Amino acid sequence: MSQAKVYVTRKLPASALDRIAAKHRLEVNPHDRVLTRAELEEAIQGIDGLLCLLTDTVDEKLLELNPDLKVIANYAVGYNNIDVPACTRRGIPVTNTPGVLDETTADFAWALLMAAARRVVEADRFTRAGKFQGWGPMLMLGEDIHGRTLGIVGLGRIGQEVARRAGGFDMKVLYHSRTRKTKEEEERLGVEYRSLPELLQESDFVSLHVPLTEKTRYLISRQELKLMKENAYLINTSRGPVVEEEALIEALRSREIAGAGLDVYEKEPEVSPGLKELDNVVLAPHIASASRATRTRMAEMAVENLLAGLEGREMENLINPEALKK
Ligand code: DGY
Repeated sequence: MSQAKVYVTRKLPASALDRIAAKHRLEVNPHDRVLTRAELEEAIQGIDGLLCLLTDTVDEKLLELNPDLKVIANYAVGYNNIDVPACTRRGIPVTNTPGVLDETTADFAWALLMAAARRVVEADRFTRAGKFQGWGPMLMLGEDIHGRTLGIVGLGRIGQEVARRAGGFDMKVLYHSRTRKTKEEEERLGVEYRSLPELLQESDFVSLHVPLTEKTRYLISRQELKLMKENAYLINTSRGPVVEEEALIEALRSREIAGAGLDVYEKEPEVSPGLKELDNVVLAPHIASASRATRTRMAEMAVENLLAGLEGREMENLINPEALKK
């Protein structure tokens, strides 16, 4: 395609945007915020390529506004914000950014795990408030991490990186996922398979790494939380609706579980007031992949996917190859 019209829904690292601008007509969301629905509806009209974020809902109604859209590149590995079947029906290829953020996201899952177990954020607030009156045998006791059991739900690329890091803490690592790994893979990764209920019952830390689908929505709900140990922690860096937030608040409030570390929320960016009131939960604003290097790599990958789609080249991270058959 000669010169295409491209819309990018949020400012990205300049090096990536320059690649688009060098060849095509580029427009970027001028605001330092997520586009409103009305703005997104306006932006999509008349363009050939859309580079969007996980905060942009790309549904059937939006697609209807541009029957000529040629490609959608999502700036995220998760793509639950996009109605992929609807794109496929219209012959629109959709791409994501897998692989480049695995280690950074795994690092952050560990940061949340450690912060929750050792009360790092609470301790910081306590110290700043001038409450530190001297060393105390019972001051801010938390839970050990080393030697404990880590349960990983979803052993994809990110889950595997989380598992690998557990080796440094001499942990036993359990996993549950849709498809069980081969014996050789389990040995190589140092992990043992469990059913979800077994994993919840045995783990001291449960870390979630599943995509959001109709099957994983509310995967962790009241009943699952009840299976967890009293001194266990839940870590979520996947998607908010994988956990029933109200049930989690209840479990944290009544100390049915010891604590949680959350990067994602059921009604993001809304954070339930109940969560904010609790000391035994560490809250982060969906930043697990937010390292300078990773966000740059994600931008480069999304741009490469978009350009490949516009120029008829093979898209390395194509989610819906069936779209090309339309
Ligand atoms: C993703 O990529 O899906 C993350 O949630 C943001 O990096």
